[in-house]
Amino acid sequence: MRRRRMAGFLPFQMDKGNSKNPNSRICFLASLSAFFWFFLFYFHFVVLNNNNNNNNINTKNIIIDESTILHLHQLPKPTFESTPFHVPDENQLIEGNQKMGLPDLKQETPKKEEVFSFMRALRTSENKSDPCGGKYIYVHDLPSRFNEDMLKECKSLSLWTNMCKFTTNAGLGPPLEEENNIEGVFSETGWYATNQFAVDVIFNNRMKQYECLTSDSSIAAAIFVPFYAGFDIARYLWGYNISMRDAASIDLVDWLMKRPEWGIMNGRDHFLVGGRITWDFRRLSEEESDWGSKLLFLPAAKNMSMLVVESSPWNANDFAIPYPTYFHPAKDDDVFIWQDRMRNLERKWLFSFAGAPRPDNPKSIRGNLIEQCRRSKVGKLLECDFGESKCHSPSSIMQMFQSSLFCLQPQGDSYTRRSAFDSMLAGCIPVFFHPGSAYTQYTWHLPKNYTKYSVFIPEDDIRKRNVSIEERLRQISMEQVKIMREEVISLIPRLVYADPRSKLETLKDAFDVSVQAVIDKVTNLRKDIVENRVDENFIEENSWKYALLDEGQHEVGPHEWDPFFSKPKDGNGDSNDSSAESAKNSWKNEQRNHS
Ligand SMILES: *[C@@H]1O[C@H](CO)[C@@H](O)[C@H](O)[C@H]1NC(C)=O
Ligand SMILES: *[C@@H]1O[C@H](CO)[C@@H](O)[C@H](O)[C@H]1NC(C)=O
Ligand SMILES: *[C@@H]1O[C@H](CO)[C@@H](O)[C@H](O)[C@H]1NC(C)=O
Ligand SMILES: *[C@@H]1O[C@H](CO)[C@@H](O)[C@H](O)[C@H]1NC(C)=O
Ligand SMILES: *[C@@H]1O[C@H](CO)[C@@H](O)[C@H](O)[C@H]1NC(C)=O
Ligand SMILES: *[C@@H]1O[C@H](CO)[C@@H](O)[C@H](O)[C@H]1NC(C)=O
Repeated sequence: MRRRRMAGFLPFQMDKGNSKNPNSRICFLASLSAFFWFFLFYFHFVVLNNNNNNNNINTKNIIIDESTILHLHQLPKPTFESTPFHVPDENQLIEGNQKMGLPDLKQETPKKEEVFSFMRALRTSENKSDPCGGKYIYVHDLPSRFNEDMLKECKSLSLWTNMCKFTTNAGLGPPLEEENNIEGVFSETGWYATNQFAVDVIFNNRMKQYECLTSDSSIAAAIFVPFYAGFDIARYLWGYNISMRDAASIDLVDWLMKRPEWGIMNGRDHFLVGGRITWDFRRLSEEESDWGSKLLFLPAAKNMSMLVVESSPWNANDFAIPYPTYFHPAKDDDVFIWQDRMRNLERKWLFSFAGAPRPDNPKSIRGNLIEQCRRSKVGKLLECDFGESKCHSPSSIMQMFQSSLFCLQPQGDSYTRRSAFDSMLAGCIPVFFHPGSAYTQYTWHLPKNYTKYSVFIPEDDIRKRNVSIEERLRQISMEQVKIMREEVISLIPRLVYADPRSKLETLKDAFDVSVQAVIDKVTNLRKDIVENRVDENFIEENSWKYALLDEGQHEVGPHEWDPFFSKPKDGNGDSNDSSAESAKNSWKNEQRNHS
């Protein structure tokens, strides 16, 4: 982050302290002559020196008004650091001109108020009669090639799955049929065969229902870019060269950076959604064999916030949001009824697992977990194979989760799985084996204190110590299980995406929580800029630690999970073969669909 030259003052604070002004005649003349020289130097060093740069000449003709402030701040400011003279900058000149007088030169303290183009937006939250104050979202009107056109060509969106049926019903997919609901595992309404990569469309459609949309970007708390980033890259992940994979991303940032909105904060108030794992957008090199696009490495994308279903622990420009489940309530009651059902179910299995082994990954603990499920009388397994199996049937999966107290959620090819959200929706307490599977990911949506809603068994306990899951889970008292399950059930509203065609009355869904978090992030950044706060010790590689900090904390240090997140380059630690390496394998995940 760039350090600002001078302390910022809030414009509404600036009238204070200007009242006394002892203008003796001599002072006045001295000021006049000083100003004359300053002006001469200013003209010489700044205006003339830059006169082949049209942008800077504009700084002469400034009229203070909201619209030009926005314009002004898009332009590169002339830099005074190298000149040996103190030259009044444009804001001081404006003030002088407005008062039809001269800058008060005796007031040595350079308490210049910076006028930030986002001040108007920041101040909307002080307007008590505006329920949307501080919450406005401006949505870019992107050309249709960045979104709608992809839906028209839905057949090309995946090599194995015909995505056309999954983009119906505003992205929810086809309703789950009556005959699918064999054991009555779903409630009456709100259930769809939703694809795990459909968040691009669902989120975009949910945005259309957002109650504080604005067409005036100068009051926006954040700016949404409705690009279907996940759909875009899914078309080209397999069998296309890197220029095809990067084309839309480069086209998009070119388009965005030409908009006046970009200049407000260099894109740091922009956010977009890609309903896939971050590794699909983080190609490290220009090698054709390397995986994915380089969207998240583009300079413009480094300034934006991208919401993905799995974020990178080591990067600051992506944030994890829940995978979609099969449940998309249209009203509060749909949720309350479901929660009540999940409270009162009889759960005959202590633990269960739905998934496939990873025989080609020697570090995977899935084989061990599958063995334990098979061996235990209180364990249940739904094994996924290639082709048709019960593992791909939403009702079989949900039925098993609904009959289990605990649901095992080991890593797949990457840290996270959709299954974690399906199991919590079923009121089943998740058991995680790697902090990257949830705790460092969904910090906006899940409690920071993970022991409240989940069980953590480090992978090495399974891998190296062959720990018995059954024994470990039996140590948790039935009373404690009940408290944890209630916590899981209470989280359901914020983990599901409501039906984008209607609106929950009071409950906040996964979309609402995400948008609020983006707004908070941008608002805090703006306040930091105004108050001239810079975190000089910020190390992007520690992003996952910052995400775990409580409100008001800024410092990170050694963490008990460090071994889980030592970078691949270190060659040791559990993450050796995760990240980009596993992204290369994620096609298997997609082929197997639910594993
Ligand atoms: C405050 O909000 C109300 C309602 O949206 C609006 O009419 C009014 O102009 C706002 N006031 C200011 C100072 O922006
Ligand atoms: C990449 O592939 C596209 C079509 O698949 C082709 O038109 C283009 O020339 C290729 N670009 C490079 C640099 O190979
Ligand atoms: C990103 O933000 C930084 C800091 O505001 C700025 O210097 C840089 O030019 C921005 N990048 C782009 C591509 O706008
Ligand atoms: C986390 O939650 C558990 C269970 O509710 C509680 O015993 C523990 O004190 C909490 N830890 C912190 C740091 O709040
Ligand atoms: C793990 O423990 C179980 C029973 O406790 C045993 O049957 C199995 O052989 C052990 N596996 C390994 C790899 O040691
Ligand atoms: C990490 O992975 C590389 C290649 O993927 C391998 O050569 C190396 O042995 C691995 N290191 C450890 C400690 O597993």
